[in-house]
Amino acid sequence: MAETVKEMLSEEELTKRIQELGDQISKDYEGESVFLVCILKGAAFFACELAKRITVPVTIDFMATSSYGSGTVSTGEVQIKKDLDLGVEGRHVIIVEDIIDSGNTLNYLSGLFKDRKAKSVRMCAMLDKPDRREVDVPVDYIGFTIPDAFVVGYGLDYDQKYRNLPYIGVVEFD
Ligand code: IMP
Ligand code: MG
Repeated sequence: MAETVKEMLSEEELTKRIQELGDQISKDYEGESVFLVCILKGAAFFACELAKRITVPVTIDFMATSSYGSGTVSTGEVQIKKDLDLGVEGRHVIIVEDIIDSGNTLNYLSGLFKDRKAKSVRMCAMLDKPDRREVDVPVDYIGFTIPDAFVVGYGLDYDQKYRNLPYIGVVEFD
């Protein structure tokens, strides 16, 4: 099936907003250090750009997850495919995600890091699709709220393609 990608958020808009999020996080954690948990693969581009704009000390680590689901129905279960190398105990964790959709991934991970005795757990998502929420999760930092469309670029994929696009685009199927 052929598809086309239409730009929704430009590289300039994304860069400007990431700077604002970096400024906000730097202010909120003044005098502390933060532990960024980047959720692979989608959040990698966003997390690196964000980390460069945080002025308090940063530790970054990576985790890979996948959601279980039969067909299109999400069961809400999340599987860890790659765990962190570092421990989070006593750290101020910020989970960095590409997009919050059903909310299942962030809901599961925030509980996990609380169980692992993080000092605090906050969440940061580049994009938010609130129309599709199944669980109510308080996301502390959001880049852009978008309508319910399938988006790619800046780390997000369709069938493992388009992660390298420097902008966010909507996939249109012909
Ligand atoms: P959820 O919030 O647990 O439903 O999961 C969010 C995950 O679903 C994201 O980390 C993405 O991997 C994936 N996802 C959701 N919406 C999109 C989209 O529009 N494009 C690409 N991936 C998406
Ligand atoms: Mg993801």
